[in-house]
Amino acid sequence: MEEHVSRKKDHIKICLEEDVEFKDKTTWFEYVEFIHNPLPEMNIDDVKLETKFLGECFNYPILIEGMTGGVPEAFEINKNLAEVSSKLNIPMEVGSQRAGIYDPSLVYTYRVARDVDPDIFLIGNIGGVQLAREGVELAEKAVEMIDADALAIHLNPLQELIQPKGTPIFRGVLKAIEKTIERLDVPVIVKEVGCGIPMETAKILESIGVKAIDVAGAGGTNWTLIEKIRARESQDIEREVLGEVFQEWGIPTAASLIEVASSVNIDVVASGGIRSGLDIAKSLSLGACMAGIARPLLRLAVKNPQHVLNYLKEIIMQIKVAMYLTGSSTIEELRNSKKIIIFGPLLEWCCQRNLKL
Ligand SMILES: Cc1cc2nc3c(=O)[nH]c(=O)nc-3n(C[C@H](O)[C@H](O)[C@H](O)COP(=O)(O)O)c2cc1C
Repeated sequence: MEEHVSRKKDHIKICLEEDVEFKDKTTWFEYVEFIHNPLPEMNIDDVKLETKFLGECFNYPILIEGMTGGVPEAFEINKNLAEVSSKLNIPMEVGSQRAGIYDPSLVYTYRVARDVDPDIFLIGNIGGVQLAREGVELAEKAVEMIDADALAIHLNPLQELIQPKGTPIFRGVLKAIEKTIERLDVPVIVKEVGCGIPMETAKILESIGVKAIDVAGAGGTNWTLIEKIRARESQDIEREVLGEVFQEWGIPTAASLIEVASSVNIDVVASGGIRSGLDIAKSLSLGACMAGIARPLLRLAVKNPQHVLNYLKEIIMQIKVAMYLTGSSTIEELRNSKKIIIFGPLLEWCCQRNLKL
């Protein structure tokens, strides 16, 4: 477990100190344009942002993505994020709970989020690989640890390959997810961590009973790059080179979102490089019911909850402005009116993959 703790510490440190976003690849949200409405026939205050996710109502379509837990510094981060989740009535996910399952002395670093407010919608997190290798009881323990309202299972084959001492062993993961769904009485979300999810996978996941898919596409935080940096620091040349070659791998977030939203009837979360309220408005228009943000929040949560709150208030205003300028007073209206144009590589992608908006 020591290896796990040092890895989690590295992740926080690297995410805070280095530029670890994709370099050449973007989210492709720049290939989505709203059709401006100069006559919205409404006021900005008429815009309402309430949304439904997994059958629950939230004030804003923003999800605090899973990041940390299992190291002492995670306590403050999760506490600050939970305070914001509580104030804004938005869902929050913790980072992978494996460390807390094996070492009960670390549970407090996750549990703090639940202790801040027993009513926030809190999402647990565990790796698909860990479920397959170590048993689906892990999922039950993760839910129990924080009285989770849902469990996110992350799929990260590329990260496991580049990560020093990673476990890129994905045989049996689908079966493990299926068993987990049978065992749990809370909904299961499946997510990537920055390489996106295509429609084929989305359809399989829907067919086994997954209740939501979080695309976590390419264009934001780059886990191949983060693990490449760690490989370099531990002089693991082979993995460093592998990381270099595959650094820009992944389905851009906007493409992955269209892949998933156009092929399944379950809730879809847009994440991976969501950096403004305009990105979120575009995501909603493309079929997401929530948009998730990770690394930008981490950088503020290490300071205090007020910084996170101020940032999210700016984002909320940006969503409202985008909706106002398209004449949409609700998210449903924005989604149904389809006041968007897609062009460039995103359009080519949709044509080649036969995707319908
Ligand atoms: C410091 C940090 C730690 C993360 N740890 C986890 C994790 O334990 N489990 C997980 O599913 N995703 C994890 N993620 C991935 C995020 O949830 C998210 O999918 C990804 O970072 C893309 O979002 P972003 O571009 O807004 O950062 C982590 C992200 C960050 C920044």
